[in-house]
Amino acid sequence: MPKSTVTFMCSECGGESLRWAGQCPHCQAWNTLQEFQVRKAPSGRKQATAQGVPNRPVPLNEIESESSPRRRLAWGELNRVLGGGVVPGSVVLVGGEPGVGKSTLLMHAAQQIAGGDGGKVLYASGEESPQQIRMRAARLGPLSPGILLLAETDLDAICEAIRAEAPQLAIVDSIQTVTDAGFEGSAGSVTQVRESAARLMRLAKEIGVPIFLVGHVTKEGAIAGPRVLEHIVDTVLYLEGDRRQELRILRAMKNRFGSAEEIGVFAMGEKGLEEVSDPSAALLGNAAVSSPGTAVVVVLEGTRPLLIEIQSLVNRTTNNYPPRRIASGMDINRLHMLIAVLEKRASASLGGSDVFVNVAGGIRITEPAADLGLALSIHSNTSNRPLPDGLVVIGELGLAGEVRRVGQLERRLHEAARHGLTRALIPAGAKAGRPAGLEVVEVRSLAEAISAAFPSHMRSGAFIKEAEVSVT
Ligand code: TYD
Ligand code: MG
Repeated sequence: MPKSTVTFMCSECGGESLRWAGQCPHCQAWNTLQEFQVRKAPSGRKQATAQGVPNRPVPLNEIESESSPRRRLAWGELNRVLGGGVVPGSVVLVGGEPGVGKSTLLMHAAQQIAGGDGGKVLYASGEESPQQIRMRAARLGPLSPGILLLAETDLDAICEAIRAEAPQLAIVDSIQTVTDAGFEGSAGSVTQVRESAARLMRLAKEIGVPIFLVGHVTKEGAIAGPRVLEHIVDTVLYLEGDRRQELRILRAMKNRFGSAEEIGVFAMGEKGLEEVSDPSAALLGNAAVSSPGTAVVVVLEGTRPLLIEIQSLVNRTTNNYPPRRIASGMDINRLHMLIAVLEKRASASLGGSDVFVNVAGGIRITEPAADLGLALSIHSNTSNRPLPDGLVVIGELGLAGEVRRVGQLERRLHEAARHGLTRALIPAGAKAGRPAGLEVVEVRSLAEAISAAFPSHMRSGAFIKEAEVSVT
């Protein structure tokens, strides 16, 4: 008889504890610890391979390399995030908030496999009725007979169907609706989610079918989130984006078969998702009109540079309320820091003003390389002077107001040049090739950047000289 012991696991972060507590000792979330049964496997000797022969050590060079090649999907954006296509026998978790477009994305993937080269895809769903799924699929493109739909939440039935059909791809939407009858707990509990995923993982490896799992991210902790599964699966992708906006970013958080730095960009429209192979162009859409408070920065997402427009609005606080600072698309603490640096190093006086900062396109900036651009955008709105047309701003800002170097400057400059920007403010001393058509100005401090960026301040044509910099 397999023994079982009980521990507790956080449905937010997957951290384990021996005792129940109101607050998770790992991630400090409240009320997220759930009972978790650890089943002891029956003793070791019986753990043989599928063929019934015990495993023996094999010389490394005698192991066959990837037996079957990756299956490439029609979308380059999706292949890129997966590390070059779908690896047979891999398990990929696609996480994201409800309504962000996970089911839509996977239905597109299903259609690309079933449509293009006549493959077979099994779509097991416990989320929606077959009619709803058909309606969604019909919006995306022609219905393909190669997609088999299974409305099922019982894990045994799902595993059996995958085994019997041996499809080129199996999709389980979502892992939080699936239950394994061999375990206690309702669907979505930590035990169920983990055990079901582990079993699907074993099945995928055994028969070589790739399986995509959908996992909802929840704030409440009532159902176990994808983080509980991150250690189990091969690849973790998160679909992000503002539901009210069209841009969606698929981000690799972990990938045993490729880089965990990559992103894929998509746009949600009337007919489902579309890949966006040139996200900078999409994000820069209306940056052509420069207005006070708008700045263009380049951030790196994985290996890709993205041109992003940021906007600031600085307003006098009404009725002596405490000033508000609102950041959408960036960390609020970073904004507080930038405001402090602006006050101290550029004599800005923002103590009596509300400051709102918005990153266009629903993108979230996490890179300090956008600091200088943000600071200039706030300065621009405060002083009611637009930044020059065609300007891109690159640089991290230190507490002393110094402009610090950023990684991969050359890549960023090329992206700016490719999209027709004509001037760049960059950290002084950085070594990088200068693309043709881009006037590059090195700045050492916030004050230098301000005088370089607002030429109306100065004699005409002083854009370069005033900053005392080398230009190529
Ligand atoms: P869905 O894939 O069901 O999200 P998830 O599985 O992550 O919960 O996507 C739902 C949202 O996508 C819904 O708000 C409507 C929108 N949508 C479109 O805008 N266009 C479309 O063609 C489709 C299919 C969905
Ligand atoms: Mg869904």
